[in-house]
Amino acid sequence: QRIYIPCDTTALSLGADQIAEAVQQEIEQRDLDATIVRNGSRGMLWLEPLVEVDTAQGRVGYGAVSAQQVSALFDAGMLDGNQQHESCIGLVEEHPFLKKQQRLTFARSGITDPISIEDYIALDGFNGLKNAIAMQPQNIVDEVKTSGLRGRGGAAFPTGIKWQTVLDTPSEQKYIVCNADEGDSGTFADRLVMECDPFMLIEGMTISGLAVHATQGYIYLRSEYPVAHKLLNEAIERAYKAGYLGEDILGSGKRFDLEVRLGAGAYICGEETSLLDSLEGKRGLVRAKPPLPAIVGLFGQPTVVNNVLSFAAVPYILDKGGQSYADYGMGRSRGTLPLQLAGNVKQGGLVELAFGISLRELMEDFGGGTLTGKPLKAVQVGGPLGAYLPASQWDTPVDYEEFAAVGAVLGHGGVVMFDETVDMGEQARFSMEFCKVESCGKCTPCRIGSTRGVEVIDRIRSGENANANWVLLEDLCETMIDGSLCAMGGMTPFPVQSVMKYFPEELSAAR
Ligand code: NAI
Ligand code: SF4
Repeated sequence: QRIYIPCDTTALSLGADQIAEAVQQEIEQRDLDATIVRNGSRGMLWLEPLVEVDTAQGRVGYGAVSAQQVSALFDAGMLDGNQQHESCIGLVEEHPFLKKQQRLTFARSGITDPISIEDYIALDGFNGLKNAIAMQPQNIVDEVKTSGLRGRGGAAFPTGIKWQTVLDTPSEQKYIVCNADEGDSGTFADRLVMECDPFMLIEGMTISGLAVHATQGYIYLRSEYPVAHKLLNEAIERAYKAGYLGEDILGSGKRFDLEVRLGAGAYICGEETSLLDSLEGKRGLVRAKPPLPAIVGLFGQPTVVNNVLSFAAVPYILDKGGQSYADYGMGRSRGTLPLQLAGNVKQGGLVELAFGISLRELMEDFGGGTLTGKPLKAVQVGGPLGAYLPASQWDTPVDYEEFAAVGAVLGHGGVVMFDETVDMGEQARFSMEFCKVESCGKCTPCRIGSTRGVEVIDRIRSGENANANWVLLEDLCETMIDGSLCAMGGMTPFPVQSVMKYFPEELSAAR
């Protein structure tokens, strides 16, 4: 009988290793025929550490377990599937939070041991790569185009078109770079992919290499993810040993090498050109575009730069076909989006759904409302550069174009909820301050504008010439949007403008 204890960062930070030790002790003391499997996370983060037990009916879960509870759980008949214990959540896959999701990318997360290649293969792993090996590069790119996949890092550029540009640019050496510098507030989907199903990322990047004739890949990983670092390196080593990476992938004569490089903690290194500078060993400074990285990228060569979630969607597409992926979604937003519920939320975690669900359904049906139980006031979607959405916008469907129509962004799918006690004036100030701290300093509207922005907001909030400073802030926002070189300075005004429009009295009582 197997007992599953997750090994991802969330579970570990809540004592999963101590639970594993306690469970092992009980197994030995009670002389039981049971083994511990360290699985990934189901993404129901409020239930972590979620311990699961194999039973005849399926896997039964025990939520928010502590090491001190372990002995009592055994006494209560945990291994017999006794569901009477207060922490028992019943059959895990019947839990409404999971059951209502459409998991294409996160299909294996929490089910398998993340670094077991056998587990991965048993649940469709490497089928997409096997198909890709037998295909012409153009056909692989066409399949991705058919899927309608758009960049999941936030900009939503069509992935197939990006790959086409790299395929069409002649060069002896091309590169595949994975942006794993997940820096947006409230986001953790990339981390969950890397910690709970790392072979999926390896497979997606290898397929991308085959599609554009690139033989070298790099995963640029933020240093704040040490568990992902360890698991990725372990998975890469195993993939090499099993012939899924290296100079002769599965005997096909095709080559793809992959390694992980660590960042050093700068938000701006998530911007693709500064990421490339950092990867080349320089200070991360934003480069002017054009030329696009697809044409002049890493070390001056054509480079595919995609987010973790974009690569992670590819194995499914090459296995089941682009059309099968495109059958999900609405409008020009095809497939599924892994959304991340965070902030003041009762049931925080990963929710993968086809585009089209409303923000309200997401926050209420999945999130269960606020953790404090107080009324929800605002929600910030798309990271620190995303607008704050007031109640009047919560029926907006999750769709790139619908969000753009209300002046918001979906970004990387982070959804951060705030209850009525939030001070929206302070949130506006925070946006400018964040930019001030994280600006790479290359262009004036962002470097100087963010500093002046904090000062102007402080004057407005203290009632000093509130009307004149309000106009100044409006002008400053316009200047930053129009004059900044990259999204850092260009999008920082979005949250500020949303506060000015929807919560003006909280920014200035004096106007
Ligand atoms: P962008 O719109 O300039 O480019 C999007 C991607 O498409 C880039 O990879 C670009 O090189 C590529 N591209 C554009 N035209 C192309 C063409 N004709 N052929 C081939 N490739 C082409 O957006 P950018 O600056 O890369 O990203 C901004 C977004 O990043 C924002 O919308 C924001 O949501 C998101 N973001 C995400 C964060 C995260 O942690 N995931 C953090 C901060 C921002
Ligand atoms: Fe650097 Fe800011 Fe300019 Fe981007 S907008 S290039 S982060 S100074």
